[in-house]
Amino acid sequence: MCGIVAYLGKNNAIPLLIKGLKRLEYRGYDSTGIAFIDKYKKLAVIKKKGKIKNLENAIPEGLFSNIGIAHTRWATHGEPSDINAHPHTDCKGEIAVVHNGIIENFRAIRDFLVNKGHKIKTDTDTEVIAHLIEENYRGDLLEATRMALNIVEGTYGIAVISSKEPDKIIIARNGSPLAIAQNNNNYFAASDASAIIGNSESLYYMKDKEICVMSKEGLNITTLDNTPVTPEFQKIEFDLSRIEKNGFPHFMLKEIYEQPEVVMNTIRGRIDMENGDVRLNGLKNYEEWFRRDVNRIIFTACGTSWHASLIAEYLIEKLAGIPVEVEYASEFRYRNPIIDKNTAVFVVTQSGETADTLAALREAKKKGANVFGICNVVGSTIARETDAGIYVHAGPEIGVASTKAFTAQIVGALLIAVYLGRMRNLSYEEGKNIIENLLKLPAKIEGLLKEHDKIKKIAEKFKDNKNFLYLGRGFNFPIALEGALKMKEISYIHAEGYPAAEMKHGPIALIDENMPVVFIATKDSIYKKVINNIEEVKARNGNVIAIGTKGDKKLAKLANYVVYIPKTIDVLIPILTVIPLQLMAYYAAVLNGCDVDQPRNLAKSVTVE
Ligand code: M6R
Repeated sequence: MCGIVAYLGKNNAIPLLIKGLKRLEYRGYDSTGIAFIDKYKKLAVIKKKGKIKNLENAIPEGLFSNIGIAHTRWATHGEPSDINAHPHTDCKGEIAVVHNGIIENFRAIRDFLVNKGHKIKTDTDTEVIAHLIEENYRGDLLEATRMALNIVEGTYGIAVISSKEPDKIIIARNGSPLAIAQNNNNYFAASDASAIIGNSESLYYMKDKEICVMSKEGLNITTLDNTPVTPEFQKIEFDLSRIEKNGFPHFMLKEIYEQPEVVMNTIRGRIDMENGDVRLNGLKNYEEWFRRDVNRIIFTACGTSWHASLIAEYLIEKLAGIPVEVEYASEFRYRNPIIDKNTAVFVVTQSGETADTLAALREAKKKGANVFGICNVVGSTIARETDAGIYVHAGPEIGVASTKAFTAQIVGALLIAVYLGRMRNLSYEEGKNIIENLLKLPAKIEGLLKEHDKIKKIAEKFKDNKNFLYLGRGFNFPIALEGALKMKEISYIHAEGYPAAEMKHGPIALIDENMPVVFIATKDSIYKKVINNIEEVKARNGNVIAIGTKGDKKLAKLANYVVYIPKTIDVLIPILTVIPLQLMAYYAAVLNGCDVDQPRNLAKSVTVE
C-alpha cells in the first residue's frame, strides 16, 4: 500500500528519502516520487511510474536539500502513471502533498475547486488536498492545512511542504499510520517504522486527528482543533538485519525459512509445563471474564489472517468447547453482528493496519464487545485499539505474501485455545501433550524445509498450468484455502481451495488430465474420507499432488506426487502442511519469472477500504 517518508534536518534529504522508500517497497506500489525545496528555495517535484529505480534515474546527480517528502503510490483513484504519482501540487507549484488513504468527498471538493478556478491536473483524490491548502492559505501553512483537513472526509496520513514556508514539514494523520522520529536536529516521519529505523532510537506514533509541524525549532503537535499534544516517544525494538534478505534471493523465501524460529518466538515465555497450561499475560486482565462469562467468540480478519482465524475456530471449539464464528472483516462491518456481554471478539492481523479489520474492530467496540488482538506489528493501530491481546512475534514480514506470520497466528490461536480449554474441560494430560508436541515442532519444520528440491520439481512440472484445485478437510481445509491463495497471489495461476468433500458438489466437473489437484491428506481422524476423494479424482484422470504423513505408502501409490510431513498430533498438522504449499507457490512464481516479493496489484497492508 502507499508509503510516506519525510525528512528535515542537517543532512541531504534526497538519499535519505530514497533509502526510506526502498524500505517501504515491500508494501507494494506502482509509482514513486519526491518533493523537496531546492537551492533557490523553490519547490521541486520528481515522480515516476514503476520501480524506485526509475525515480532514482530521473534525479540529477549532486542534488542537495535539507527538506523533502517522498511517496510510494498504490493506485486507488486514477491509473498508475507519472502524472498520478505523488507528490501532488497546487496550481502554482508551491505546495506539495503526499497522501496515504482515501478522500471520500474528493469529487465534491474538486467541483468546488474547479468553480473557484483551480486547475486540477490528475485523476487522484489526493490532488484536491494541495489545492484546498492553496485556497485556504493566508500566510500560515499549518492553518491552511488544518482548514483543508477539516473539509476532507475519509482517511489520510499526509506530509506537506511548501516553498512559501520552506523550513517546515506539516504532517497529519486520520486513519492512516504515521510515525515521527527525532535525532538531534534531524526529524523524520514515515508511514511505517521500517523506513526510519536506524536514524533514531525512539518513535512517536501519531494519533488520529493530530497535526504536527516539523521545523528547525523542533516538533509542534496539536490536535486538529488546536489542543496541544505532548508526544510520548517509544523505544524502537527493531533489528535491522531482520528487514534484509541475508543471502536469500527473496524475502518470501527467507521468511519461509524463518518459521522454525518464529514458532519458538511465539511460544517463548508462555509455556507453563508444570500445569499443562499456557500463560498469556496479554489477556490477564480478562482472565476471570474468559473463565466465567465467555460463551461465544467471533473471529474477524482478512486474507491469510482470515484463514488463520478458521483454524482458530477448529482449535477453540475442539480444545475449549466454546462456539466460534469467523467473519470476513469487510463483511462484519456492514452487517448487524449479534454481540452480547458474553461474546469475545478477536481480530487477527499481521500488519495491525488493515482498514477493514480496523473498521470491524471499531464496529465491535461500538456494540460493546471486548475486542482482543492477535497481531504481529507491535504498536500498530489495531494493537493499540484492541482492549487486550497477544503479539505473535513473527518479526517484520516484508514479502507481500504472508507466510511466517500465518504460522505464528496459528501458534497464537493454539495457545489461546489451550488457555481457554484449561479453564474448562481440557485435561492436564491433554494440555501437556499439546505443549510437548508444540516444542518439537521447530525441528520438524526444519526437516520439512529440506524437501525443497522435491517441491521445486513438482512446481516445475505444473508451472505452466492455468488452474489448480486445493482440497483438504478439517484443519486442512483452511490450509487448502491458504495454499490456493499463495499460488494465485504470487504466480498469478488461478487456484481454488475447497473442503475436499465439496468437490463432488460442483468442482468435480473441472477435473481432467489438465487439472492438478493438491490434496492435503494427512493421517488424521478424517484421513479415510480424503482418500476416497482422491480416488474420485484419479477415476477422472486428475493429476494428484498429495501432502501426506511420513510412512503413508498407500498415498504414494494413489497420488502422482507426494510430499510427506513428519508425524505430529492433529492440532499441529496445519502448521506443517502449509509449508510445502508455501514453497510450491514460491517456486512456481520464480520459475514463471514473477516478482515474488511485490506481486502485481497487491499491497502488504491494505490500509484503504
Ligand atoms: O495485515 P493483515 O494480516 O491484516 O492482512 C490481511 C491480508 O491483507 C493479507 O493476509 C493478504 O491476504 C496477504 N496478501 C496474504 O498473503
